[in-house]
Amino acid sequence: MTTTHDGASRTKHRKLLAWVDEIARLCNPDRIYWCDGSQEEYDRLCDEMVEKGMFIRLNPEKRPNSFLARSHPSDVARVEERTFICSEREEDAGPTNNWMAPDKMRAILRERFRDCMRGRTMYVIPFSMGPLGSDIAHIGVEITDSPYVVVNQRIMTRMGSAALEVLGEDGEFVPCVHSVGAPLQPGEEDSPWPCAESIEEKYITHFPETREIWSYGSGYGGNALLGKKCLALRIASVMARDDGWLAEHMLIVGVEAPDGTKKYVAGAFPSACGKTNFAMLIPPKGFEGWKVTTIGDDIAWIKPNPKDGKFYAINPEYGFFGVAPGTNATSNPNALATLRANCIFTNCALTDDGDVWWEGLTEELPEHLIDWKGEDWTPGCGRPAAHPNARFTAPASQCPSIDPDWENPKGVPISAFLFGGRVSKNFPLVFQSYNWEHGVYMAATMGSEATAAAIGQAAIRRDPMAMLPFCGYNMADYWRHWLRIGRRNVATPPPIFRVNWFRKDQHGRFIWPGFGENMRVLKWVLDRCDGCGSAVESPLGWVPFYNSLIWEGLDFPRERYFQIMNIDREVARKETNDQEELFTRFGDRLPRELEIERELQLSRLFHSPKLWDLSAAVEPTRK
Ligand code: OXD
Ligand code: MN
Repeated sequence: MTTTHDGASRTKHRKLLAWVDEIARLCNPDRIYWCDGSQEEYDRLCDEMVEKGMFIRLNPEKRPNSFLARSHPSDVARVEERTFICSEREEDAGPTNNWMAPDKMRAILRERFRDCMRGRTMYVIPFSMGPLGSDIAHIGVEITDSPYVVVNQRIMTRMGSAALEVLGEDGEFVPCVHSVGAPLQPGEEDSPWPCAESIEEKYITHFPETREIWSYGSGYGGNALLGKKCLALRIASVMARDDGWLAEHMLIVGVEAPDGTKKYVAGAFPSACGKTNFAMLIPPKGFEGWKVTTIGDDIAWIKPNPKDGKFYAINPEYGFFGVAPGTNATSNPNALATLRANCIFTNCALTDDGDVWWEGLTEELPEHLIDWKGEDWTPGCGRPAAHPNARFTAPASQCPSIDPDWENPKGVPISAFLFGGRVSKNFPLVFQSYNWEHGVYMAATMGSEATAAAIGQAAIRRDPMAMLPFCGYNMADYWRHWLRIGRRNVATPPPIFRVNWFRKDQHGRFIWPGFGENMRVLKWVLDRCDGCGSAVESPLGWVPFYNSLIWEGLDFPRERYFQIMNIDREVARKETNDQEELFTRFGDRLPRELEIERELQLSRLFHSPKLWDLSAAVEPTRK
């Protein structure tokens, strides 16, 4: 057993050193290695993984300093049924989280982690979520036996010696312990992607009171890069509740008008609903002189500033862990440019000239590939070449649209919140809430159709604030926190909007072109923030008239617009009735405001004729 290491030469943080020793005693690794975060270290670890068959080096001319990893076929996404919130009391985890008593879980984890790193190196990764030293940032330390995690963490977080320096001798950190599981037998070599064989052996666990994370049995990003979903959302949401801020599953974009004025918008969308594309949007024809810039594509930490009464947001991450399939020169040219070098690809297909490929990257299919499982692939073979949840890990600094303020430790002021699911029927393109409480209700009742980012989802599921898999405490308390923070902690809370890019027509085709064209919706949102965009009341909220949006450069006839905005009252009434099921799960803990908002919506919908038809509204003339 190894319990000696050079930690004391790296840090004088006694609590950290003692914790590393304790975990080493439990996990019994062959070696302990403190990561410094240097390029040299990154290169060395990548070389070692290439040698062991864990990484394939991509063609340096096509994709310099980039690698492909193939996961075990069973370890391709987050495992929600194995994700636990281990609060002292079950009701504090709430009905939407899996709960286990902390003592019981600790006993299981002790058994799982005992000797689990034998034959492997234990890496210690100090990291900062958020710009180093920012008031909004927090430090974590991840212990892992996976070099894949180390190199991904170097892209996704500010990690190594610099984070250790910020921590000082007694700074607070969130302890995060990770093992791929699958302990090695004496003399046994590691497989290219070690992980626990069965789903039941995986544990992604969070202890909100002690603010600890323990993850066992999976190497997949969302389960293993513990700074991301585990710290920056599940644990941070608890910190945010306690300390009066918000930790959200949100992108942040800046929008600069031709006259140089700039606003920032934060948007929550469930996994794999186009957050990365929206965060890197390129304004379409008709928006010459407009610029959209990227602060983050997945997570926002948002704090009220008592000085000016506004919300300020940072992106706690340092890179993008995006879904590759569907990313192409039309959907997201900025992402493609970001991926030009220094990236890690997981579960993408390999081309014959040593580059990566995924479904949707090119219209023309390659004649031959090696698929994500390492098997020969040809068009028409009946299998996808890349896994639908294949991912890229890319440095945010390489993104052409990255905002000049993306590392500003103070964050950027937020002017509006967007919430959007994937709904193919009877849901308007965009509408605005009547007030903060109504907006929180709209966000709390969000629903979305299934995606590939998690295993075993129902076809349609409610995903309040896109936080269902990521809220580290009782969702009813989380809603109460939202209601309160907008009322008490900011002067005027930003307006809240629902958006939906995914409505389909009677032939099953998307009505809205999406991608860059979403700028038209964003512009109306900003107009509303400025108090100048026109809108009409609908049963669901304020909706824009046809001529409230700018149509220059897009042929989108008025009739098609009505098709995407109209509301079938009966269907909407049924949907509003169905929301009761979600609310009753929370019993007395549900904030009353939300049930009142639901009933108000029902009363607005209780009306003939059957269709709420935008074409019947009298449109103001555009100035
Ligand atoms: C993600 C997710 O990886 O939400 O961002 O699953
Ligand atoms: Mn996400």
